[in-house]
Amino acid sequence: MARKKIVAGNWKMNTLPAEGVELAKSVVAGRGEVCECVNFIVCPPFTHLAQVIEQVKGSDIAVGAQDCATEAKGAYTGEVAASMIAALGCKYVILGHSERRQYYGETSESLNKKMAQAYANGLTPIYCVGENLEEREAGNHFAVCKAQIEEVVYNLTEEQFASLVIAYEPVWAIGTGKTATAEQAQEIHAYIREVLRAKFGAAAEECPILYGGSCKPSNAAEIFAKEDVDGGLIGGAALKAEDFLAIGKGF
Ligand code: PGA
Repeated sequence: MARKKIVAGNWKMNTLPAEGVELAKSVVAGRGEVCECVNFIVCPPFTHLAQVIEQVKGSDIAVGAQDCATEAKGAYTGEVAASMIAALGCKYVILGHSERRQYYGETSESLNKKMAQAYANGLTPIYCVGENLEEREAGNHFAVCKAQIEEVVYNLTEEQFASLVIAYEPVWAIGTGKTATAEQAQEIHAYIREVLRAKFGAAAEECPILYGGSCKPSNAAEIFAKEDVDGGLIGGAALKAEDFLAIGKGF
């Protein structure tokens, strides 16, 4: 079976509600120009998830959140529960993004709880892994990704793993304009799949592994052509519908 091809847009803390609605509208309008085989996902800020979901209704574009709470509900001021996100009609949730690990103290411990919340509410996690520049330069990128997978993904059941999406995002390539080469991406994606195979066996062949980090229309095709790259998690270029869709044409 061929793996799912996915192009997911991580809007981060960008767009006001009206801008987000316009962006979603443009993605829906242009979607027909791209192969139906590509699964598009947009991940707006919490504040306009509902409006964006309304906007993409009737299309095959899915919506995801950028994070969720570790707990189910209760006295956790400022947090947003996975059940709330799911109730809006979200299908996905990005977990473990390097910006959350780096700026908000996200750890494997909190991520295990968030993964459990996501699955308990029928959300598919897009679980992010990746090394920073120092780790890459020291040759530790394999070990870093392995640990990020072992500490979290290895705790999933086979059934949970069957719907998981992984994103490899080297921190040194995020928002820097510096992209991993297609060869670098393939090398680590193949390695990540090997780590998954060690625990989940043949099911690892079905797990989509997305590349993220300055992915744009001009480099998407070369990166997506690699055997173990199943699409992209797109930041900056997801804020322009035209670029976001053009990345989908990279398949
Ligand atoms: P970028 O971000 O495409 O702007 O580098 C990717 C991401 O962080 O998901």
